Amino acid sequence: MADNDNTMENVVVLGHPLLKHKITMLRDKGTGTNEFRALIEEIAMLMGYEALRDLPTEDVEVETPIETCMSPVIAGKKLAVVPILRAGLGMVSGILALVPTAKVGHIGMYRDEETHEPQEYYCKLPKGIKNRVVVVVDPMLATGGSAVDAVNLIKEKGATNIKFMAIIAAPEGLKAFTDAHPDVQLYVGQVDRCLNDDAYICPGLGDAGDRIFGTK
Ligand code: PRP
Ligand code: URA
Repeated sequence: MADNDNTMENVVVLGHPLLKHKITMLRDKGTGTNEFRALIEEIAMLMGYEALRDLPTEDVEVETPIETCMSPVIAGKKLAVVPILRAGLGMVSGILALVPTAKVGHIGMYRDEETHEPQEYYCKLPKGIKNRVVVVVDPMLATGGSAVDAVNLIKEKGATNIKFMAIIAAPEGLKAFTDAHPDVQLYVGQVDRCLNDDAYICPGLGDAGDRIFGTK
């Protein structure tokens, strides 16, 4: 990311104007649940388009109106999308719109309100995770604790080709993640200023889970 910072080499900040526009709409506290959900899905699709640039393809035979040829399709069975519950769920449909045959795993994590440490409560990953490209999704990378632990879990199950997509990141989370997982490519929509005393991202967008599911 930053020119002279080696620890940030595996971070891609996606600066597309469409993405920036949609993230601004997400931040707006006046954006209601329906619109917020739709924006999260659209942003995930735009980010996925970039993050999946190197997705494996395989050639299939196709008959055009002119002749038969071999032409590439996505080797979709090789992809697993893994949302960190709850907020990551909002991003899944955006990735599945791009690769409908991808498998979906789930990792449940919540942050302890006092310590801000992640607490794992669920983990179910698709079969053959070792051989898949695994795209972990969560809109928020704050302290980075949830992301670091989720990727630890996925690595423990044998996956080696892992990407992480976060819509908004704090500098603290970027550092924690790249220190812990320098081998994982991290795709970020926007890097914000800092964390506040409650470990919320500033300016951020508030509590992503609550805004997606209308729980506050
Ligand atoms: C949010 C968010 C991330 C985590 C980020 O989830 O979706 O998973 O916080 O914070 P961190 O980088 O400091 O770990 P939360 O714990 O609020 O759970 P929820 O999605 O169920 O609301
Ligand atoms: N989780 C959120 O949903 N928002 C933040 O700003 C930090 C963690």
